[in-house]
Amino acid sequence: MNKKWNGLYYPTKDFQKQANLNNKKIYKQASKDPIAFWSDLAKKELFWQEPFTETFSNKQTNFGPEIKWFSGGKLNLTENIFEHNISQSNSLSLRGGSQADEAIPTVEIASGSALAMTKSKVALIWEPENPDEQTKKYTYEELLSEVNKFANALKNLGVKKGDTVGIYLPIIPEIAISMLACARIGVVHLVVFSAFSPDALRIRLQTVKAKYLITADGYYRRGKTINLKQNADLGIENTNIEKVIVVKRAGNDIIWENSKNFWFDELTKNESNICPPEKMNSEDLLFVLPESGTTGQFLPIIHTTGGYTLQAKVTGKWVFDIKDGDVFWSTADPGWITGHTYSIYSPLLNGITTLLFEGAPDFPTTDRWAKIIEKNKVTILYTAPTAIRMFKQYGAESFKNCDISSLRVLGSVGEIIDAPTWLWHNKEIGKNKLPIVDTYWQTETGAIIITSLPGIGPTKPACAGLSLPGVNMNIFDENGKPCKNGVEGNLVMLPPYCPAIVRGIFGAPEKYKNVYWNLYGKDVYITSDRAIKDKHGIIKITGRADDVIKIAGRRITTSELESAVNNHPEISESAVIGIPDEIKGSTPLVFATYRGVKNKDEVTKEIEQEIKKSMGPIATPKKIYLVHELPKTRSGKIMRTLLKKLYFNENLGDISTLSNPETIEAIKKQITTNL
Ligand code: WT7
Repeated sequence: MNKKWNGLYYPTKDFQKQANLNNKKIYKQASKDPIAFWSDLAKKELFWQEPFTETFSNKQTNFGPEIKWFSGGKLNLTENIFEHNISQSNSLSLRGGSQADEAIPTVEIASGSALAMTKSKVALIWEPENPDEQTKKYTYEELLSEVNKFANALKNLGVKKGDTVGIYLPIIPEIAISMLACARIGVVHLVVFSAFSPDALRIRLQTVKAKYLITADGYYRRGKTINLKQNADLGIENTNIEKVIVVKRAGNDIIWENSKNFWFDELTKNESNICPPEKMNSEDLLFVLPESGTTGQFLPIIHTTGGYTLQAKVTGKWVFDIKDGDVFWSTADPGWITGHTYSIYSPLLNGITTLLFEGAPDFPTTDRWAKIIEKNKVTILYTAPTAIRMFKQYGAESFKNCDISSLRVLGSVGEIIDAPTWLWHNKEIGKNKLPIVDTYWQTETGAIIITSLPGIGPTKPACAGLSLPGVNMNIFDENGKPCKNGVEGNLVMLPPYCPAIVRGIFGAPEKYKNVYWNLYGKDVYITSDRAIKDKHGIIKITGRADDVIKIAGRRITTSELESAVNNHPEISESAVIGIPDEIKGSTPLVFATYRGVKNKDEVTKEIEQEIKKSMGPIATPKKIYLVHELPKTRSGKIMRTLLKKLYFNENLGDISTLSNPETIEAIKKQITTNL
């Protein structure tokens, strides 16, 4: 972005002129009647097999509000990707019905967004980790064919509409095919990040009582082969999993159980590539995705069909200014919500090409990303600040020798993008002209809810931006009153929320109520983030209000880490705090009580291993302090805030309420001597 005025950046004239949204009137239009606004969009943007009868409702129940969007409507997400998009270029026969005829959009969207879709357009590009291995490409027709074959194979295995299927796959085309095949036949998918441990897989599968799992033999990470099937075999112990479908990826040795294991290729080989899209109610479950929540709660978040499909589609169109020829690269693993919504669903719903990359950003060389952008003429790059900070540290050289001029929009997500990183990104990758959209949202909101729109602006470095048109975010003080501009408070979302808002916590309605709806009025959604609004309405996220640490954009609670630490037989209890990290944003620091005799170095190493195993290498702590005792209040609460102050050598304030003030000096000594 180049036009700077008063600390605010605006899009260039050229960008603005061609943007899908370029008139700020849309904000007013939407806020006048957000329900009507979304209703119009739903009719205009989606193909409904049967029209919806009620746009929005949020009936209060004993377990919080029961939110419904587009009740009565029937649709299939994959039909909106394939048949609907393909038909738009030929005839409108599939749209049919009175809904489409009645659709009178109040929103003016520049005509450039109309997609000239053909069956032979590339839907998916897959780049393997090894640059010498062949790139794979699927046209819309080929992808639909693969999706249908696998959907039929699932049906033949006995999978039924409404069942939940676990997906534990690396970033290979089959992860997209599996998710889409589930959506095709009304099966709920639960994707588990492939770097998660067998224990993490098990608890997720147990929660949803899944009977089927899709996994791979292995995959590559920095040139090493990871035996994923082995992890899957361990992870399904003590679950209801009856059948495991295995994609052949790395050709590594695996243990095979004939009665239980099925090769993906063999299952699909002779299947028909025709599979009618299941008629789904708008509120039927689409997927469940577990996340870390407040005070260590494990939250399998429920998303349903109609609202999610709409918000995934329109946010892509608005926020990334999706155009016909775009190649969209969201670098997130499909195991996370960003991967669900923007690596797969949003670009495909918008009929463009999406790119998946199997490997790490700097492997085998630090210009790997630049090479992928150059080779595939990527136009939209959506990533996390942690990756940008890494490249900032490597220096702009990583991008110098490649032609990255195809890029037209840059996006950031997952955590605060600090001003120095934003400015570097703007200069080195954005060449002072590309829009940078800092997008705020959560697993719970399904899609973007705060950002600056690239064709409208303004953009303020390190600030997420305005509420999306049709979404009403606010900042409340302790008493539930809106904070004045410039005053920090709790970030909340007010009715009608957004179409993709969380509908519940799988199997735990009490949690749903307590985590999201219990702080203010019954209909005020709590994000658990702290934020400040300026006089323009621009929202700056200042941090989490709970014990979640965002490590490299991933959401991890201190208590999850603590339970991994406490798994060590020599440790009785522990306290984990998050401290700032130059690359990862935040990183954990562990304090654990240890009174044993075993060598301290060994114990430290074992704890580190345990954390890596259960949460992935990203959660590796900066330092593990083995202490004699942790500072506690008289009621026994561990004083984590005090540990943080000790670490940063800040004033501790009154510590007379501690039951064991003598621990302070001992820990201080350990910190200063780095023991
Ligand atoms: C939490 C949600 C959003 C999809 C990926 C993460 C933090 C997210 C931003 C941003 C500052 C951000 C918040 C939020 N967060 N985007 N643009 N600026 N903070 O989804 O794992 O559910 O995490 O990520 O703390 O609550 P998630």
